[in-house]
Amino acid sequence: MSASVEIKGVTKVFARQGMDDTLFALDDINISIQPGEFVSLLGASGCGKSTLLRIVAGLEIPTKGEVFFNDEIIHGTDPRRGLVFQEHTLFAWLTVKGNIEFALKAVKQYDQKKEEIADWLAIAGLSDFADNYPHQLSGGMRQRAALVRALAVSPDVLLLDEPLGALDSFTRMTLQDELLRLWKERKNTMLMVTHDIDEAIYLSSRIVVMSPRPGRIAKILDVPMNYPRNRASDDFTELRSQILKLMEFAHDVQIEYML
Ligand SMILES: Nc1ncnc2c1ncn2[C@@H]1O[C@H](COP(=O)(O)OP(=O)(O)OP(=O)(O)O)[C@@H](O)[C@H]1O
Ligand SMILES: [Mg+2]
Repeated sequence: MSASVEIKGVTKVFARQGMDDTLFALDDINISIQPGEFVSLLGASGCGKSTLLRIVAGLEIPTKGEVFFNDEIIHGTDPRRGLVFQEHTLFAWLTVKGNIEFALKAVKQYDQKKEEIADWLAIAGLSDFADNYPHQLSGGMRQRAALVRALAVSPDVLLLDEPLGALDSFTRMTLQDELLRLWKERKNTMLMVTHDIDEAIYLSSRIVVMSPRPGRIAKILDVPMNYPRNRASDDFTELRSQILKLMEFAHDVQIEYML
């Protein structure tokens, strides 16, 4: 199952604790995501990517504007919109396997999907660590566990905040292929934050490049290449340099602002 997500005129202003002023995190963000699309958000640190994802998840309320999920306005969280946090949070008191079981039980899919847990552990390369607690894992292992916990539930919309950020490049590329395979198979709608331009091009059907302070959309780019994509192809290289230019532009704006 997949669903559409419509982000309409979303603005977010935070009150700064202990300060008189406010922080303009997002300014008039408009993105229309079709069911089954894979959209990535790229942009400098602090440009509001996580804030936008938390708003779509229903964890944060926009100051202005709204988000629609299949034409319904989003109010609060919903298991049909799964979020993998940037901090890849696992339940500390449950083992890796326990974390996946808990997620499946929470959406009443445990009986139907319990046979799949071993496969998910294998995909994450964690079969030998199923009974370990999060504190007994490396950072990358925790990240992989948090990712497969969200994938196991297969929500209609999967919101991924730098899901592969802490991984070495080899594991990262393997999991990118795994993400692609699962997306093709299940056709969930994906909205992923990444800092990695190549990762965004390799995976996405569209890339939203954001500029900072306040977070705005600098450009939305189509990625009209067939899968699997070749990182060394001319199309890939051309898009990479186009995005780099856009991000440099975003960076210049930030420096000007700070001066
Ligand atoms: N709960 C909050 N209260 C106050 N300010 C916040 C809050 N959450 C985020 N911000 C501010 O909003 C801005 C955007 O933060 P956000 O975490 O969305 O950035 P980001 O693009 O995800 O950055 P990174 O790439 O470093 O993860 C930052 O300036 C941050 O300080
Ligand atoms: Mg973030």
